[in-house]
Amino acid sequence: MTSSTQRLPDLSGTVALVTGAGGGIGSGIARQFAAAGAAVVLHYLSSADEAAALSEELNAAGGRTVTAQADVTDPEQCRALVRTAVDHFGRLDALVNNSGVQPNEPLADMCVEQWRFVVDTNVTGTFLATQAAVEVMRDGGGGSVTHIASIEGSQPAYDHAHYCASKAAVIMHARTAAIEYGPLGVRVNTVSPGLIHRDGLEDAWPDGVGRWLEAAPLGRLGRSSDVGDACVFLASTMAAFITGQDLRVDGGMLARPTW
Ligand SMILES: NC(=O)c1ccc[n+]([C@@H]2O[C@H](COP(=O)([O-])OP(=O)(O)OC[C@H]3O[C@@H](n4cnc5c(N)ncnc54)[C@H](OP(=O)(O)O)[C@@H]3O)[C@@H](O)[C@H]2O)c1
Repeated sequence: MTSSTQRLPDLSGTVALVTGAGGGIGSGIARQFAAAGAAVVLHYLSSADEAAALSEELNAAGGRTVTAQADVTDPEQCRALVRTAVDHFGRLDALVNNSGVQPNEPLADMCVEQWRFVVDTNVTGTFLATQAAVEVMRDGGGGSVTHIASIEGSQPAYDHAHYCASKAAVIMHARTAAIEYGPLGVRVNTVSPGLIHRDGLEDAWPDGVGRWLEAAPLGRLGRSSDVGDACVFLASTMAAFITGQDLRVDGGMLARPTW
C-alpha cells in the first residue's frame, strides 16, 4: 500500500516526535512527516530494530531522523524523550502520541490489571508525553500535539471496554488540553482511525475485515499513510486555527446511519 507524498504540506524546519514509530501506524506517520520535510524523532519502547531500520531508510532518502527509547507511562522517561528532540534538532514543534495497546477481553473476565495496563498506556502515557512536550514547545513559541485515538473512542466494540474507555478519555484530554494550552500557542487535536491495514490482518481476522469492507462507505481498509497525512495536516500551518478537534480517518464508517 503506497500513497502520494506530492500533496503534503511543507514541514521543512519542523521537528516532530512520533511515539511508537517502530509499530504499524507509527511508522506510517513518521514516513509522512519525513516526506513532508520534517526532522523526526522515532520513538520506540521494545521495537528497537524496527525503529533503527526505519531511521536508516529515511536518512538514506535524505531525511533527518534519530531513534529514542522510552516508556511513556514514566514521567522522567517522557521528559528525557523530549530532550532528545532538543538535543538533536534544537527544538520540538510537533508531537504525535501514537503509542497504545489494544488487547481484547470481555468485561466479565477483565481483571483490574488488564484494565490498568490499557488505561495507563493509552491515557496516562498520552498525558505525560504531552505535558513534557508542552514544557519545551511553550518556550519555543508554540507547537502542535496530535493524539491517535480511535473510532472506538466514539463507538463501542465488544471485548474492548478498557480500550474504548481509554480512547474516549484521550479525545477528552485533547479537548481539555486545547483550552489550557491554547494560550501558550500549542494546539491539541486527535485523529481517530478506523480499521487500518497491516500485514497479515486479512488472514488473522478475515471476518472483521470482511465486515469492514462491506460496511465502509469508501470500501477499503485505511492505510497508515492516511493517518500520517492527517497528522501532517494538523501539524502544518494549514491547521493553524484548528484545535480541540477529533478528525476521523475512517473511510466514512462513523458517518453511516446505525439503524
Ligand atoms: N490498527 C488499527 O486499526 C487502529 C485503529 C485505530 C486506532 N489505532 C491506534 O493507533 C495506534 C498505533 O496502533 P498500531 O495498530 O500501529 O499498533 P502497534 O503496531 O502495536 O503500535 C503501538 C505502539 O505503541 C508502543 N507502545 C506500547 N506501549 C508503550 C509504552 N508503555 N511506552 C511507549 N510505547 C509503547 C509500541 O512500541 P514498541 O513496538 O516499540 O514496543 C508500539 O509500537 C494505537 O494508539 C492504536 O490504539 C489503531
